[in-house]
Amino acid sequence: MITLDLIVGARPNFMKIAPIIREIERRKAQSEAIDYRLVHTGQHYDRNMSGSFFEELGIPEPHVNLNVGSGTQAEQTAGIMLGYEKLLSERKPDLCIVVGDVTSTMACSIAAKKMLVPVAHVEGGIRSGDMTMPEEINRIVTDSITDYFFTTSETANSNLRKNGVESDRIFFVGNTMIDTLLHSRPRFRKPRLWDELSLDEKGYIVLTLHRPNNVDDPANLKQLLNEIIKSSDGRKIIFPVHPRTRKVINSYTEPLSGSIHLAEPLSYLEFNYLVEHSLAVITDSGGITEETTVMGVPCMTLRDSTERPETVTMGTNELLGTNPDAIAPAMQRLLSGNWKKGAIPPLWDGHTSERIIEIISKMFDRKTA
Ligand code: UD1
Repeated sequence: MITLDLIVGARPNFMKIAPIIREIERRKAQSEAIDYRLVHTGQHYDRNMSGSFFEELGIPEPHVNLNVGSGTQAEQTAGIMLGYEKLLSERKPDLCIVVGDVTSTMACSIAAKKMLVPVAHVEGGIRSGDMTMPEEINRIVTDSITDYFFTTSETANSNLRKNGVESDRIFFVGNTMIDTLLHSRPRFRKPRLWDELSLDEKGYIVLTLHRPNNVDDPANLKQLLNEIIKSSDGRKIIFPVHPRTRKVINSYTEPLSGSIHLAEPLSYLEFNYLVEHSLAVITDSGGITEETTVMGVPCMTLRDSTERPETVTMGTNELLGTNPDAIAPAMQRLLSGNWKKGAIPPLWDGHTSERIIEIISKMFDRKTA
C-alpha cells in the first residue's frame, strides 16, 4: 500500500489538490493499493476562503485540521510545523505531497523532511526572483529539500537544473490548477451580482489585489484603485476583496467613488464564471494569470516580476509593474481591441494529475518490488 500525505492550507492550494485526490480515488476504486491522508493546516479558515472550495471542487473533509489560523509568517510557520510534526510522529506516510508556494507548503515540507519522510512538490521550480515576496522564500526553501519535482513549465525545469537538481528527480507534467479549471468549466455558475449589477458579456473588468506590496499601504492602494477607475472609461470594475485588502479599504474615511463594485471573495465556480465572461482581468495573483491564459481572457498583472513567464510569453498576460502610471496606456490598448490573443502552454491539458499519480505509483512499485 502506498500512503500519501496531501497538504493544503490556503485558497490557491485547494484547486491544485482537488484533481490529485480525484485521481487517487479513481485508482482506489479499481483496487489499486494507494491511499492518502488529507491535512488542512487551517491557514485559511473563512468559509469563503476555504469551505466553499471544498464543496464546489468535491474535496472530501480533511482527515486532520491543524487549525493554525492567522498570524505573522513566523507564527504560522511555527504553528504548522509543530502540528504536522506531531501528526507525523503518530503516523508517517511514504511521501508528503505539497503544492504551490504558500506558508503551509514550506512549513510541512520542512517538518516532513526532518522526520525522514520524502517530499514531492507539485508546481516546483518556479521563481519570480523577487525576494520581498514571502512566496519566493517558500519556493526556494521548499525546493531546497524536495525529493521529487512535478513541474508546470520548461522554465521551472531549467531553474531546477541550474540549482543542481538531477534530471531524474524532475517530472514535467503540466498544471493541476488547469486540471481543475477544465474539469469545472461546464459547471461555472453566474454569481448573484451578475444580475444585481446588470453585467453584460465582455462588458466589465474583474479586479483582484492582495499582495502586501500593493495593498498594505493605504495611500498606495488608493492610488492604484483610482487609476484603474479613471482609465477604464466607465466600464464596471468588479472587485472581490481579499480579507487582507478589506482591512485596508475599511480604514478609508471616504468611500471609493466611480464604477468600482466591491464584493466578498467569490466561490471558485462563480469567480471563474465572472472571469470567463469578462473583458479583462487586472490582478496581482499568479494563479489567475494561468487561468486567464487558458480561457483566452486579457490579463494585466500589477507586479514587477512573475514566476509564471509563460503566461506572458505565450499567454494573454502582461506585466504592468506596480507603478500606477502603467495602467492607462495598457487600458487604452485593451479598449481599442488591440490585446494579444495568446496560446496555451504545453501540457496544460487537464491530465496532469493522472501523470503525477502514475509516476508516483510506478516509483513506489519499483521500491517495494
Ligand atoms: C496567502 C498566500 C498567498 C496566496 C493567498 C491567496 C502565503 C505567504 N501567502 O496570502 O500566496 O496568494 O493566500 O489568498 O502563504 N484572513 C482571513 N480569513 C481567512 C484567511 C485569512 O480573514 O480565512 C486574513 C488574515 O487574518 C490575514 C490576512 O487575511 O490578516 C492574510 O492571510 P494570510 O494567510 O496571512 O495570507 P494571504 O495574504 O491570504
